Amino acid sequence: MSQYKRPQAGHAFGDVGAPIDLALFGALGDLAQRKLFPALFHLEREGLLDPATRLLGLARQELDVDAFKARVEASLATYVAAEELDRESLARFTARLDFLSLDFTQPDGYAAIRDWRQGIERPMVVYLSVGAKIYGDICQHLESSGSLDAESRVVVEKPIGYDLASSAEINDAIGAVFPESRVYRIDHYLGKETVQNLIAMRFANPLFGTQWNQNHISHVEISVAEKVGIEGRWGYFDEAGQLRDMVQNHLLQLVCLIAMDPPANLDADAIRDEKVKVLKALKPFSDEMLGRDVVRGQYIAGTIDGQPVPGYHEEEGANQGSHTESFVAMKTEVANWRWAGVPFYLRTGKRMPEKLSQIVIHFRQQPHYIFDPDQRNLAANKLVIRLQPEEGIALEVLTKDSGLDKGMRLRRGPLHLDFHNAFPKTRIPDAYERLLLEVMKGQQALFVRRDEVEHAWQWCDSLIAAWESRDEPPRRYPAGSWGPVASIAMITQDGRSWYEDY
Ligand code: BG6
Repeated sequence: MSQYKRPQAGHAFGDVGAPIDLALFGALGDLAQRKLFPALFHLEREGLLDPATRLLGLARQELDVDAFKARVEASLATYVAAEELDRESLARFTARLDFLSLDFTQPDGYAAIRDWRQGIERPMVVYLSVGAKIYGDICQHLESSGSLDAESRVVVEKPIGYDLASSAEINDAIGAVFPESRVYRIDHYLGKETVQNLIAMRFANPLFGTQWNQNHISHVEISVAEKVGIEGRWGYFDEAGQLRDMVQNHLLQLVCLIAMDPPANLDADAIRDEKVKVLKALKPFSDEMLGRDVVRGQYIAGTIDGQPVPGYHEEEGANQGSHTESFVAMKTEVANWRWAGVPFYLRTGKRMPEKLSQIVIHFRQQPHYIFDPDQRNLAANKLVIRLQPEEGIALEVLTKDSGLDKGMRLRRGPLHLDFHNAFPKTRIPDAYERLLLEVMKGQQALFVRRDEVEHAWQWCDSLIAAWESRDEPPRRYPAGSWGPVASIAMITQDGRSWYEDY
């Protein structure tokens, strides 16, 4: 199994990445230009790239090294804040860049990668920022061309497949070349500072440790709302839909981090073993639950920030008859001793009024209530964990309303930790900076193990199969709204509502 080595004290996160050769497939693509090069640049700037580390961009397009460097510089100018793009760091960074033009599916050109590696001792990290269908081909060609070494690692992006069967096929193809201990499956939510903070918050604070179960928590809400629509990705998105694009990975990872039992330590497999137990315990959807506890939606034209926004069917390249969902809300349960009977309400959608990722833990009411009965609806604590934007944590507590005329009237107020105000000098790094650094250090804790991906697919597959058998169109919601009215009805039928004020 894993060759993950336990980090030494003080070295868990944040030390300099070990020297590597990074071969980035899809180097001219959107993810590389928008996220990966800016993240690598920030690591450079923070002094976290070893001086020997080299970066090789690979793409189909014919381009010479200087033209490639110019493309990367242009992207950095767009995606890195001007005050952070200093000349010295930029010069050091571009000096590391190299470029190879290659048809990824053909074995012929791969000898050039082997030559690039000739006489180099440090491990090669292969980053596949390309469609998952060709992961297997690339791994195979790298191996047969002799470009890999015993320490080589591969980093792969989601989505890994379209369902359990296709993901197993892709994982088999990767596994034929790389052992699991050298496969780094990215779910970029795991690299977000605030998502990692869930582990710190849950397991470093005894206050939450003893309360974190069905005796004290009545329900959990997870909302991941996006303002953006399809962003020119119709071809990909229309085949996937919001369930595959966001729930199968990001939302289920959040469910795991909220619901998992404490791992024995912070080793990659200790954490991942606990996450897998949660995924295995997710209640499958029955036919009855499907009608009551799941809502699929698709946006129609609307308004966001006062600007008109087209509907899903009017997006560039759209297929007018598409029934693909751009919104999902669901009620699910982690059926185990800790969580039995505690609903987890999840919702995620595109073209919502704001970008917001937030988890709300609703605690149960006091068993015996002594205050004015008309205030009883106030009497529950909530822990609001804001993942993005305005990262922070708020614990809603009840206090006495002040004033001689107030008697023992209660008032709700937050104990609020706003990360930007509390730690003003600390820059919150982008998820990809953290993840790239962890790959350099050979630490897998923030990456998804094969069985996690497969259990997540298994659960989603049962839902997709049930949807397909019903063949119902998604419910419409105007862009700029919080989703179909039915998603509000779904939670109000339980006497609850989606949390709104922060
Ligand atoms: C990606 C999805 O994984 O996550 C996108 O494919 C989505 O559709 C994105 O927009 C959201 O990420 P973030 O970090 O902006 O919340």
